[in-house]
Amino acid sequence: MEENTSSRKVLLIHGPNLNMLGTREPDIYGHQTLEEINAALKAQADRLGLQIETFQSNDEGGIVDKIQQAHDSFHGIIINPAAYTHTSIAIRDALSLLNIPVVEIHLTNIYKRESFRRTSLISDIVTAQISGFGSHGYLLALDGLAQVL
Ligand code: DQA
Repeated sequence: MEENTSSRKVLLIHGPNLNMLGTREPDIYGHQTLEEINAALKAQADRLGLQIETFQSNDEGGIVDKIQQAHDSFHGIIINPAAYTHTSIAIRDALSLLNIPVVEIHLTNIYKRESFRRTSLISDIVTAQISGFGSHGYLLALDGLAQVL
């Protein structure tokens, strides 16, 4: 059945410690709070004719549960798994279950930071990755997702 653009739903997932944006190492992660980032994404989603739901968890299992639930209710995902990017096979496996586009986003360029941040366990299974544009990267991720939805 044909679906119009406004019925397209995007899930934005923020991993651990991203709830502390604004006060968390602002020289590295910037001064914008997570609430401000989410509000900017909601405004951009409106402009693009998309619906967006945001979710943040410091808990690996909570993120896995949310990804599993997205299976039949979302058309695309934007995810910053934060530190779990580098450690979580569980999040990778959950994303692998889905057959919808997934955009991986990082505020910082993880490839020019400490060696333990240079490996992403999901980069080879996602549709695209944006890394290093700060909070503007979320807007780029949404624009890119709108193109493929
Ligand atoms: C991050 C990079 C990760 O290495 C780090 O653990 C984060 C944020 C980023 O957005 O740059 O929490 O994903």
